[in-house]
Amino acid sequence: MGSVSLKIGDGTARFKKATLCSSAVNIVMIFSVITTNLFALYAFTSSPKHTQILHNNKNISIISEQVSIILREINLSQKKLAQMEKELLGYESIDLSRPNIANELKMFLQHHQLPLGKDSRTGITEMVPSVGHLCEKNSDLLSQYMSYKINAPCNDDWSVAQKLIVKGCEPLPRRRCFSKTVSKVGLNPFPNSLWNPFVRFVKVKSKNDFLVDDVLDLGSSNGGVRIGFDIGGGSGTFAARMAERNVTVITSTLNVDAPFSEFIAARGLFPLYLSLDHRFPFYDNVFDLIHASSAIDVVGVGGKIEKLEFLMFDIDRVLRAGGLLWIDNFYCANEEKKQALTRLIEKFGYKKLKWVVGEKVDSSGSGKSEVVLSAVLQKPVRA
Ligand SMILES: *[C@@H]1O[C@H](CO)[C@@H](O)[C@H](O)[C@H]1NC(C)=O
Ligand SMILES: *[C@@H]1O[C@H](CO)[C@@H](O)[C@H](O)[C@H]1NC(C)=O
Ligand SMILES: *[C@@H]1O[C@H](CO)[C@@H](O)[C@H](O)[C@H]1NC(C)=O
Repeated sequence: MGSVSLKIGDGTARFKKATLCSSAVNIVMIFSVITTNLFALYAFTSSPKHTQILHNNKNISIISEQVSIILREINLSQKKLAQMEKELLGYESIDLSRPNIANELKMFLQHHQLPLGKDSRTGITEMVPSVGHLCEKNSDLLSQYMSYKINAPCNDDWSVAQKLIVKGCEPLPRRRCFSKTVSKVGLNPFPNSLWNPFVRFVKVKSKNDFLVDDVLDLGSSNGGVRIGFDIGGGSGTFAARMAERNVTVITSTLNVDAPFSEFIAARGLFPLYLSLDHRFPFYDNVFDLIHASSAIDVVGVGGKIEKLEFLMFDIDRVLRAGGLLWIDNFYCANEEKKQALTRLIEKFGYKKLKWVVGEKVDSSGSGKSEVVLSAVLQKPVRA
């Protein structure tokens, strides 16, 4: 008699609110575990002894019938247990009965009742931990990420975390382990930390490159440019040039192929570790300036323009009226793409302060030239 394989879960992505009183459910769960174990104990201890004594075929068949009834009971209680766990945690879609689900994941997913009951301002009664819905699709990776020793150093698994993020598991669950500390030696104090080996943004190489000072001049009326957001800003050079002009810029980046976040932070700038698929974690109308390059090209070959539209609406949302959207050397693979982007931008009713379509030699060094669009657009005041 081997182990009993148990697999439960209907795969629905429904979020179900736990309505049961958690302590009562805990008691039921404990009872359920005990009965399950008693059944198992009976099944595993009694059957071999009896089979030795009884050789009669009929008696054996009676026993195996009994055993299968017990197994079914175990199966049923396990199912009930998993269902109760699901209801308790409120995550219908994460299959908690899988054998490799990390305990820390279950612990993290638990809801926490507010100690004083319903909060009168927000109306909530419990705290629900935030976890990306696509985490469930990658539950093996997620369990790997959540398997660690509590209060001990985390595994060196940043690549697992980033793999999950790019697969849509964003936000990631929190963990109770210490991330690896890296001693930061030789950090330069501000403003030397900004580091300026490049001429980017302060010297033009083509007519599609605008100078930061020119763009800041365009935004000088109506409050000027004080805070900005650089989408997919790589190593933070744009933010560095802006910092020299007393403008605070947040740079969103992932550590794809290089430790961009560490590098940006070492420059004394703000790295935002976030994929482009994530809604920007800012309130409406907060930025004076948004800088975006080809990084915002989320429409792949045969992709839908709606994908870019969702992103554009989010950009528009966080940009204040009168604020500037700087599209910097956006690569247009073909005429169709350029027109689609142009139509999309025009739909938003931005004022075109600068608009340059030009050709640029392919940066990969193939010698081929590419069509690029650069623009500075001003968000209108909408009623
Ligand atoms: C079968 O089991 C019964 C009791 O359930 C017992 O009386 C009988 O002796 C057993 N038969 C054999 C052949 O062991
Ligand atoms: C438990 O139930 C599942 C699904 O109903 C089934 O596939 C599995 O074979 C059952 N296991 C046992 C030991 O009865
Ligand atoms: C930035 O701010 C400092 C301190 O207020 C000031 O001395 C400096 O001139 C400013 N630089 C620019 C480019 O505005």
